[in-house]
Amino acid sequence: MNRQRVSRISRSLVRPRPLQVAEDLEHADALDGSSRFFTKVVRRLLPPGPVKDLLHGVPVGHPAHPPLTDIPIGCFMSAAVLDLLPGTDRAAEVLVATGLAASVPTALTGIADWSSLHSEQQRVGLVHAVSNITAGTFYTASLVARRRGYFGTGKALSFAGLTALVAGAYLGGHLAFRQGAGPSHAESITHLGPLGWHDLCTVEELPDGWPVHRNLGYISLFVLREGDDVYVLADRCSHLDGPLHQGRMIEVDEETCVVCPWHGSTFRVSDGTVVHGPATGRQPAFETRVGDNGMIQVRPAR
Ligand code: FES
Repeated sequence: MNRQRVSRISRSLVRPRPLQVAEDLEHADALDGSSRFFTKVVRRLLPPGPVKDLLHGVPVGHPAHPPLTDIPIGCFMSAAVLDLLPGTDRAAEVLVATGLAASVPTALTGIADWSSLHSEQQRVGLVHAVSNITAGTFYTASLVARRRGYFGTGKALSFAGLTALVAGAYLGGHLAFRQGAGPSHAESITHLGPLGWHDLCTVEELPDGWPVHRNLGYISLFVLREGDDVYVLADRCSHLDGPLHQGRMIEVDEETCVVCPWHGSTFRVSDGTVVHGPATGRQPAFETRVGDNGMIQVRPAR
């Protein structure tokens, strides 16, 4: 009886096959050489600046890649449906062409994001990219066949492309939702709104112009004193949890900013605004006040 229950439980713990593949890819360190090479190429071709920030989605406050993927996927899926219906050859051809055109900005945003990920994420991202390139190649061949009037061949190539596309989309979902590439990693701090004023430390304990790390309960904080001003941010970077107190301080437009030591996201220390990506989510900031006894108090900024 017990053995039956154990075997039922262990059967329920078996990972689905696609998940096994994705998790195995996370540990496939044989991919690291290729990841390092392509990361160098991408960083050379796409240096930090406004273009890279635009590709990351900094101006809109969210990663640009995930919503853009809806366009090619939607076009290719719609073309597959039309390919199963009579008299829709031209409409399906237009959808394949539109999907291919939309793949260009989608791929560029994905490449920019991929170049600033952890190695486990880059391994999965690399295979995600290979799947999508394979899909794009099939769809390009499909479009050429359709333009020449070989609609049967075009449809077959499209369905081959769709298979690769679905595999790539699964890995993209794994990357975003299991490995956390894309969402803000500092968002949970914003749920601490009701937290009132709390003692942090005295002004004398803080070096002038040099960031330090302090804990407020279980919350890690980045704390910077500049003369009489004290700036406090959540310490774990919204991009991928990098420790901001180990970052470099710079001036941008006469505002003090901190550069994350891991991938270079730059945040204004006064309010956590993203100045440069890859982070797109604002770094949670804290209001500060100093009591007569020199004690600094903080609470989450509204
Ligand atoms: S963790 Fe990537 S920029 Fe901070």
